[in-house]
Amino acid sequence: MLKGKIAGTGSYLPEKILTNADLEKIVDTSDEWITERTGIKERHVVENETTSDLALIAAERALESAKMTSDDIDLIIVATITPDMNFPSTACLLQDRLQTQNCMALDVSAACSGFIYGLHIANSLIATEEVHNAIIIGAETLTTITDYTDRNTCVLLGDGAGAVVLTPSKTDQGILSTFCGADGSKGELLKRHGGLSRQPIYKLGPYDFHNVFMYMDGKAIFKSAVQRMTSSLSKALEKAGKKLDDLDMVIPHQANIRIIEMVREFAKLRPDQVYVNLDRTGNTSAATIPVALDEALKQGKLKKGDILGITAFGGGLTYGAGVIKI
Ligand code: ACO
Repeated sequence: MLKGKIAGTGSYLPEKILTNADLEKIVDTSDEWITERTGIKERHVVENETTSDLALIAAERALESAKMTSDDIDLIIVATITPDMNFPSTACLLQDRLQTQNCMALDVSAACSGFIYGLHIANSLIATEEVHNAIIIGAETLTTITDYTDRNTCVLLGDGAGAVVLTPSKTDQGILSTFCGADGSKGELLKRHGGLSRQPIYKLGPYDFHNVFMYMDGKAIFKSAVQRMTSSLSKALEKAGKKLDDLDMVIPHQANIRIIEMVREFAKLRPDQVYVNLDRTGNTSAATIPVALDEALKQGKLKKGDILGITAFGGGLTYGAGVIKI
């Protein structure tokens, strides 16, 4: 069956950096606690930029590395839970800013699994030959929905965008498999609802303002994360006809170094076979995997022919994984 392969990648992290020392001045926390419990040292945060601003730079860089222009693209997918606005979608805003019109453009809302969901959709459409070249962007400005009085969540989150251009593959190179799933019964563990139809703006009371920020039950999510990321990776490997031993590298969703370490142990990989940038980026939700993928390729840590595993979980709860021959 026809499949997509990676033709180019790009990423962008906002300039401003928020360190653990900066957070010590905002909430009751310490560099020691954050480093030990999460692995995060600093994160990039937007000042005035929107999600489509970040997505645009990542997309332009990916197009340049694919030696394509926006007119070559016939599908734009933006994976985000922090769109510029409810509608138009961030993908449509991005399409306009890329100055192209002849393509389909949609947002995918699957939180931290959003990039893998986007890859799954794009690859499936390439397989049907409905779509030729697709660009999938994971882009988030999570710090715009972060409650900086809640030390349980604010230390984890950062902003950024990563993009991947897919083109049809005529060889064994490309997306060997993707797997996506969801467990809506655990949706309450990670949510943001204030100001939307569950609690419209006119029903927000003076003490409800925190509902416009992200809420998370970190401990419960931690347990699901490890279980879902490892089982999703197994399912994707099975679909690809590959084994754990075949993996040259895994890029896991960057949420917590302890989660990443458990995934590494499950996959029986050496530390250098698991790409980690969480210490510099924090959790950027849908952007973590495409940003890490771009960095790993540019740093020469991934080379042609390598078998890469990607795996993620996120609000929804959603989960997914993929196997890619670079
Ligand atoms: N600084 C200092 N102490 C803290 C902080 C902090 N920033 N945050 C929590 N604590 C305290 C807690 O209050 C608690 O104190 P207590 O024992 O007196 O009650 C203690 O530290 C331990 O808290 P735990 O919740 O048990 O800490 P845990 O080891 O579980 O780590 C964490 C918490 C980091 C949130 C972890 O559970 C985690 O990473 N979970 C996954 C979160 C995640 O990845 N979510 C995805 C969200 S993003 C998305 O989908 C868009």
